[in-house]
Amino acid sequence: MGSGFPPHGGNLTQEAKRLGIRSDQLLDASASLVPFQPPRVMRAALRRAIAGTALRDYPDRSQIALRQAIADWHGVDDACVLPGNGAAELFTWAARDAAAHGLSGLPQPGFADYRRALSCWDAGVCSLPLPLDWAGSGPEAFPTPLDLESRVGTLWLTNPHNPTGQLWSRSSLECLLDRYPLVICDEAFLPLVPGGERQSLLPLVATHPNLVVIRSLTKLLAVAGLRLGYAVAAADRVQRWQRWRDPWPVNGLALAAGQAVIADRVGLSRWTRRVETWVADEGAWLQQQLMQLSEITPMPSSTNFFLIRSDASLVKLRERVARRGVLLRDCRSFEGLGERWLRIGLQNRRGNRRILRALAAELS
Ligand SMILES: Cc1ncc(COP(=O)(O)O)c(C=O)c1O
Repeated sequence: MGSGFPPHGGNLTQEAKRLGIRSDQLLDASASLVPFQPPRVMRAALRRAIAGTALRDYPDRSQIALRQAIADWHGVDDACVLPGNGAAELFTWAARDAAAHGLSGLPQPGFADYRRALSCWDAGVCSLPLPLDWAGSGPEAFPTPLDLESRVGTLWLTNPHNPTGQLWSRSSLECLLDRYPLVICDEAFLPLVPGGERQSLLPLVATHPNLVVIRSLTKLLAVAGLRLGYAVAAADRVQRWQRWRDPWPVNGLALAAGQAVIADRVGLSRWTRRVETWVADEGAWLQQQLMQLSEITPMPSSTNFFLIRSDASLVKLRERVARRGVLLRDCRSFEGLGERWLRIGLQNRRGNRRILRALAAELS
């Protein structure tokens, strides 16, 4: 993309090749994934689906069972739910609607895929710079960019924000719904945030036809390779997107796995609590440890990734740490960040110790 720096983390194969090591020797903290095996119920459903007809048959084009399961889970109308091939596919359709409203306002630094989606439709984009200092990891007010708002037709929100990990309070987002013709809120990481659901905009979809909430099961369930996400929006918008997209965007394995995991409501709450506990405990532990190191400052975060900043360039440090087998996210592709920032994806304790050892060895 434009900057020439990779727009995403998780480029394991290329990085391993570049570094001359096997990809299984690398610890990938450049992507932000839950370090657990996907839920047992999900793995069992996948085995059953493979043994059955899910590979041979075309999947259900209307994804009725999965829609219903997601709708029951969130207490929304099933006509307002659209499962997708990851959240990323749904950004593409959200962007088509956004293009019809003129300029899209993108808080920056921000997630790169919204630009990719908007570029499919030649949509105009304007950056809304976020202040780069924040103190705590609790819900905070979204800093409304007053100077640009009159030109913006669609506001793209990420809650919690990527790459900063800031959690925006629902009350500060709610008032934006009256100011913009379209608001797209990406809540990909919200279910991982301890207490995060209280800030969700999902309960507002029923009363705000200009709101789209997009979620990813990739993050919560550790299934980036399976591809599963969903949008919750007004029924007529969902129907329109359904008409535009490919005939079978959600494959049979993803349908089976998603249905099984959501139907097991008790197991899903247990899983979510496990993930939240991991974020709270490991996040606090790793931040505390990193504060002891010189030259870098870990920034507070509500979720399973956080930024570190320095007064000097961290590009060489990232490379030296990579040569020790630990990949951190280069932040040069994030508008407004650059060389003095890196992003770290939280791991299990063993992985976090490995990150710490690699950084400590290079900073001492
Ligand atoms: C903020 C954010 N939203 C969405 C996604 C993509 O989710 P999915 O894997 O479901 O397409 C990512 C992936 O990194 C992300 O960081």
